[in-house]
Amino acid sequence: MLKVKQNLQSPFIPHWAIIRSITNLSEDNTLFELQIEDGDFSECKPGQFVQLWLPGVGESPISVCSAKVGETIELCIRRVGRVTNALFLLNEGERVGLRGPFGTGFPLEKYKGKNLCLIAGGLGIAPIRSLLQHVLLNREDYGKLILIYGLRHSAQLLFRHELKHVLRRRDIEVFISAEEIRGPDLPPMSMQLGRVTDMLSLAPVDESYEIAICGPPVMYKYVVQGLKAKGVKENSIWLSLERHMKCGMGKCGHCFVGGRFTCMQGPVFNLTELRFLPEAIECEGTESC
Ligand SMILES: Cc1cc2nc3c(=O)[nH]c(=O)nc-3n(C[C@H](O)[C@H](O)[C@H](O)COP(=O)(O)OP(=O)(O)OC[C@H]3O[C@@H](n4cnc5c(N)ncnc54)[C@H](O)[C@@H]3O)c2cc1C
Ligand code: FES
Repeated sequence: MLKVKQNLQSPFIPHWAIIRSITNLSEDNTLFELQIEDGDFSECKPGQFVQLWLPGVGESPISVCSAKVGETIELCIRRVGRVTNALFLLNEGERVGLRGPFGTGFPLEKYKGKNLCLIAGGLGIAPIRSLLQHVLLNREDYGKLILIYGLRHSAQLLFRHELKHVLRRRDIEVFISAEEIRGPDLPPMSMQLGRVTDMLSLAPVDESYEIAICGPPVMYKYVVQGLKAKGVKENSIWLSLERHMKCGMGKCGHCFVGGRFTCMQGPVFNLTELRFLPEAIECEGTESC
């Protein structure tokens, strides 16, 4: 029998979703679980993003934050501007719009059978969480697994309870650091003082690893240098870039940089593709990813 695809409407028209739960993760970061009312987002994969729409306010690109998207989708959102401020005023049961999913996502097929190192800075943990969940759900498909997660301040740690479970597993090595540590920590010895690059020096990453990185653009240059010093090949390094986006579909040109539409050909790029885009990993940017 023919399978009828549900997303028959124009990709410019958002689908409705109801806020099912709101979980504060830190002062400005919140996990929104949205119940999808119409449309099919089940094909979302780690590294892709959706356009979150608040009627009368606007749209913002937000990364898919969990590995499995079915009746609900999880988005981890930092309050920074018009759309996100308006979202944080909503309550459970209220409606928002969603378009997508958009973008390429992390190369799951290429990662299969390989050792993997996932590197997140700040809010970059949002898309990295969906990739981590995917790998843990399909653990037998991957080799050794390392998670490196760096923060400015320990109070900005997101997904604290989930990370505690991850830290107990024997099939993943976790390195978490903050430049300033105060207040509640993970279990002793699990959060260290320092930067992402300090954790990278400690982690047993070598040329056999495939890498996924998401964080503030200023971090990329130093992380890439650290990876290269460990012998990791350029074509094994995948970075998620942040660009201002509007349509998400290669029509408006807002995300067009270095001859690429970040919304369609990214936001995840292989480092070898970014040779043509030198400012991509050196520019000043927002903290989010
Ligand atoms: C692929 C992708 C995935 C993302 N994933 C997430 C996520 O998972 N969670 C999350 O919280 N955020 C995520 N972001 C970032 C998020 O989209 C932005 O923070 C978003 O614009 C917030 O919308 P806003 O209306 O609240 O903020 P805005 O009002 O748009 O302001 C956000 C910031 O951008 C600046 N800004 C706005 N417009 C421009 C412009 N045209 N040129 C230069 N600067 C500008 C503002 O000054 C402000 O500092 C992602 C972005 C991309 C591209
Ligand atoms: S966001 Fe419009 S072309 Fe990429």
